[in-house]
Amino acid sequence: MMRTHLCGELRQSHIGERVTVTGWVNRRREHSQHLAFVDLRDHTGLVQCVVDNSVDVRSEYVVKVTGTVTQRPDGTVNDGLETGQIEITEAEVEVLSSAEPPPFPLDDRADEVDEMVRLRYRYLDLRRDRMQRNLRIRSTVNAAMRAAMVDQDFVEVETPMLMPTTPEGAREFVVPSRQQPGSFYALPQSPQLYKQLLMVGGIDRYFQIARCLRDEDLRADRQYEFMQLDMEMSFVDVDDVLAAVEVAVLDAAEAVTGERPEPVPRITWLDAMNRYGTDKPDIRFDMELIELTDVFADTEFKAFSTAEAIKGINATGAAGDWGRNKLDGLTDTAKSFGAKGMVWMKVGQDADGGGLTLDSPVAKFLSDTEQKSLIERTDAQVGDLLLLIADNWHTTCEVLGELRNRLGRPPVSQGPFKYLWVVDFPLFVGVDEATGHPKSGHHPFCHPRPEDIPKLESAPMEVRAWAYDLVLNGWELGSGSIRIHDHALQQRVFGLLGVNEAEADARFGFFLNPFKYGAPPHGGFAVGIERLVAILAGEENIREVIAFPKPQSGLDPMTGAPSEIDGGKLAELGVRVLPQTD
Ligand code: AMO
Repeated sequence: MMRTHLCGELRQSHIGERVTVTGWVNRRREHSQHLAFVDLRDHTGLVQCVVDNSVDVRSEYVVKVTGTVTQRPDGTVNDGLETGQIEITEAEVEVLSSAEPPPFPLDDRADEVDEMVRLRYRYLDLRRDRMQRNLRIRSTVNAAMRAAMVDQDFVEVETPMLMPTTPEGAREFVVPSRQQPGSFYALPQSPQLYKQLLMVGGIDRYFQIARCLRDEDLRADRQYEFMQLDMEMSFVDVDDVLAAVEVAVLDAAEAVTGERPEPVPRITWLDAMNRYGTDKPDIRFDMELIELTDVFADTEFKAFSTAEAIKGINATGAAGDWGRNKLDGLTDTAKSFGAKGMVWMKVGQDADGGGLTLDSPVAKFLSDTEQKSLIERTDAQVGDLLLLIADNWHTTCEVLGELRNRLGRPPVSQGPFKYLWVVDFPLFVGVDEATGHPKSGHHPFCHPRPEDIPKLESAPMEVRAWAYDLVLNGWELGSGSIRIHDHALQQRVFGLLGVNEAEADARFGFFLNPFKYGAPPHGGFAVGIERLVAILAGEENIREVIAFPKPQSGLDPMTGAPSEIDGGKLAELGVRVLPQTD
């Protein structure tokens, strides 16, 4: 080995030992006419070396230092550094690589550097504590999850990267085939189809730490390429799947934080929508949605009397923080999420110190009884801010869910970690405007809850699925379902989706036909690994837990990808590029 110790592990117990450490020069400071301080850095931390002034090393030079661990003189101890009691003296320095000055400082100041610059020099950015820590957390998560799955008798199977186009909703990346010019493979958006075929193939319990690719707009929680802990099990019900996933996720969390999270509570999708206005509630804070439809059952106020649902939230004590302009901004936010408007009310007190008053442009339209009931129902106190939305049920819930998050949601890094299972998602969400058919909530292979199957044709929007999500601090961590294994039921669901048998056969035949040969009842799940790691690392963007991510534009400033390819290669692939219009 080139080194005897790592920089960050040297302590007073090593005093007197002759050691060799290697790493990057973090900083050089002149000490005296003859001596200089060199802070040497590796992935474990920093150690101070006292070197001869004539040694030519500068920031980010890669060096090997052999010297004696010595107690630092009085007054020079640095309590902020784990190695701050000692330094390496009588040092011999060997330069292993010289370095040009880095384009940005490789410490916390880099957080302020333009993201494109960080990503252009990602290999330098990775030297920073933050990135070192995040990638190590990620590795810990992967190792813990893999161990948990193996421990539960899951079999690790790799599925193809080159596949036909799939019925899943998101957009596919395609790869032209050289041998079949004009034909394309799709890169997997997930191993969904293959893992179900593995169940038909008798694998029983499958898992994979799987790379998935989706050509969708990039966001804080979305990249083109991401990893899933993907799994599928045969002869199971919902409880079995949730239990197996929970072990893997909580093991990973414990491996990172040192603390075992509580068993994960469950909420139905309907309750989640009614109480939190979202299918991914952040339950670190309360501010639950309050049902007000009945309070205004006989109201003369038009915006309320015509609405299907009226709900509100009480931002306790927030009235003083929200001036007219900010409230107008919040109203615009509500509208941008589909509301027709937003009613706000500040809770005050009568001049004579008696009852509570509602200060709001719409208060005059509400009867005394309505105002009183509203105050009671929302448990309003002086200084509270009430926000009310009246609309169809879905919009009312969703808009208030958004407002709740805007008003109450703590930053990711603040913790604590609150996991939640959301179960019984609806089988269908919304209606395809073009065809008039309902749209699948998750994908067309989710099993309806058996007691709801009779309602498939008569009341499809009321049918609940054996479909579930895992949520952490308001992020969707993963989702899954029990799948349809019965051919006839699958055809029935396709029929409702407006896909006839011939079409289903053409689009998903390779997937559906195998089910005729004896498919076990099965179900599964996929956890988004970047999302889990980001939250455990206290990061707001999954880019921070990916070694080489893409920025929002999708253009990689480090490698220049994507790039054009030359005409000869295109011809070989049978591909012609259309002239670009903009
Ligand atoms: P789904 O599409 O919900 O389900 O994906 C599962 C989880 O993968 C993560 N994820 C992403 N992470 C980063 N960037 C993206 N673009 C991205 N898209 C998804 C999320 C998400 O919850 N085959 C089904 C699972 C199943 O039914 O078993 C599937 O892929 O954390």
